[in-house]
Amino acid sequence: MTTLSTLNKFKKDGTKFTCLTCYDSMFARMMDKAQIDTILIGDSLGMVVQGHDSTLPVTVNDMAYHTANIARSNKHALILADLPFMSYVTLPEAIANSRQLMQAGAHVIKVEGGSELCELVTTLAQAGTPTCVHLGLTPQSVNVFGGYKIQGRGDEAADKLLADAKAVVDAGAALLVLECVPAALAKTVTDAVAVPVIGIGAGADTDGQVLVMHDMLGMVHGRVPRFVHDFLTDERNSARSIEGAFALYQQSVRDRSFPTEQHQFS
Ligand code: KIV
Repeated sequence: MTTLSTLNKFKKDGTKFTCLTCYDSMFARMMDKAQIDTILIGDSLGMVVQGHDSTLPVTVNDMAYHTANIARSNKHALILADLPFMSYVTLPEAIANSRQLMQAGAHVIKVEGGSELCELVTTLAQAGTPTCVHLGLTPQSVNVFGGYKIQGRGDEAADKLLADAKAVVDAGAALLVLECVPAALAKTVTDAVAVPVIGIGAGADTDGQVLVMHDMLGMVHGRVPRFVHDFLTDERNSARSIEGAFALYQQSVRDRSFPTEQHQFS
């Protein structure tokens, strides 16, 4: 079974690791078979499962329901679950909602933001709950950003992102996710912090990679993001099967054939 110690060892060894989003039992079983290292019950479920146009409508109960489905069906992966929009504004709310997700089967709670999360991160760590802090393009802030845009471009934005990353790690964050940031900045952050960093649209130099499961199976509504590869129709997946796609993703991240320069931003 994958634990935080496993991921820390991977970072030390330079072994690249996988993460996929997952929301239901059958896919979780297939990911177990493919030995996907970590699973994220992402609030992206609002878009790919519930049909909303953002992650904002997702509730803590939704997250707990899907987390429990995964926890019952996958014993190999470290399980990360998102605290959804506005469910961690105050410390008491954040604690109660994290408890609900941990009791549903999560091993790590993911939150979006920067150094403003330090107190929350420390409080949860002291209470036995590891956190993963998601930086860069944080979809819960889509209305602040004015759209889903690359973050961390330019010296000031890059310096702020790096400072945020260091601050939350100093506060006790166990993992970071970097979404849609220039590859060079993602490398700087990954090299600067002692904890494993998982990237999506952040280049090849982060310690791990994450993709939304539907995207990597070619099920994309609208424009295909630059960082996505369709592992279902990839000719190396000779059976064109979902299990084959998961296995190919695991192999491609491990052997560093995914992601390539074509999947990254500068
Ligand atoms: O909710 C989600 O799927 C995510 C990933 C895109 C990292 O946060």
